[in-house]
Amino acid sequence: MSTFPQTRLRRLRHDAATRQLCQETHLHVSQLIYPVFIIEGKNLREEIESMPGIERLSVDQLILEAAQLCDLNIPAIALFPVIEGELKSSHGNEAYNPNGLVQRAVRALKAEFPHLMVITDVALDPYTESGQDGICDANGEILNDETVSILVEQALSHAEAGADMVAPSDMMDGRIGAVREALESAGFFNTKILAYSAKYASNFYGPFRDAVNSSGYLQGKGKETYQMNFGNSDEAIREVKLDIEEGADIVMVKPAGLYLDVIHRVKKECGLPTFAYQVSGEYAMLMAAAENGWLDEKKAALESLLCIRRAGANAILTYFAKKAAIWLREE
Ligand code: PBG
Repeated sequence: MSTFPQTRLRRLRHDAATRQLCQETHLHVSQLIYPVFIIEGKNLREEIESMPGIERLSVDQLILEAAQLCDLNIPAIALFPVIEGELKSSHGNEAYNPNGLVQRAVRALKAEFPHLMVITDVALDPYTESGQDGICDANGEILNDETVSILVEQALSHAEAGADMVAPSDMMDGRIGAVREALESAGFFNTKILAYSAKYASNFYGPFRDAVNSSGYLQGKGKETYQMNFGNSDEAIREVKLDIEEGADIVMVKPAGLYLDVIHRVKKECGLPTFAYQVSGEYAMLMAAAENGWLDEKKAALESLLCIRRAGANAILTYFAKKAAIWLREE
């Protein structure tokens, strides 16, 4: 074993060239996915108070946004709809309306930008009166198998519209297998499934629920009967392994920054492409500190993303994607 002064680890940090050449992990624009909130209407861009710099976009504005993403070489976009109250129901049937907001947005995007990957969210929370990701019975219990059969319809309608990747974020048991089987039977052999395998019942989704107006519908209720207990990581490995067996192509850990150990374990122990979702609350925290002048936005955000990569994530869904693409270009 070499010791001081044969080994001086500071030699490797002495100058910029050495630091660069010895850097183990990099962040590249090709690893970024931009989540976008979409609304009905024309020529609309609505600010979201708890997510400075992020807006809800009508489909025409989404197309303009997508053009920018393509210019920046961001490879993928993930869509999250805001659904009007009158379209919500107990069973969330609007989720698979072939002419629903998501389905129209996917068609418009794929027609204009065939190479921009479009990822759709498979879950019922925008569509249910309860704001829950699944169907509720009279006692407020979330019904697993009934929900899965609707999720299957939803995923199929996204694939029919042209979605490249469907992303079940609902955490029902057995949904990956059911969606895979339905996609295969319908001939969608190349539609990828990004499984939100280890999605935690986190307190960091608040700004997202503001963005999609679902907080009011939830009436203070949580999602801990289906999303994971954040004290657990062995269970995350079980979830991921099940989803792999059921046919997931890629798995996801969510949130990201507080769950780096989970990302690391999933990548090491399961070895398939692993994505991480830097969620709305993580974005809001960084932005709040930056707006107060307490953190440098660019430096702190790029560090947060690089560290998620270091933990083992192949790609990251992040509200910083656009800004990060520009910052990385500047470097
Ligand atoms: C719901 C869904 C949520 C997010 C993505 N899909 C919130 C939730 O589970 O209530 C959160 C993303 C974020 O906070 O940025 N299917």
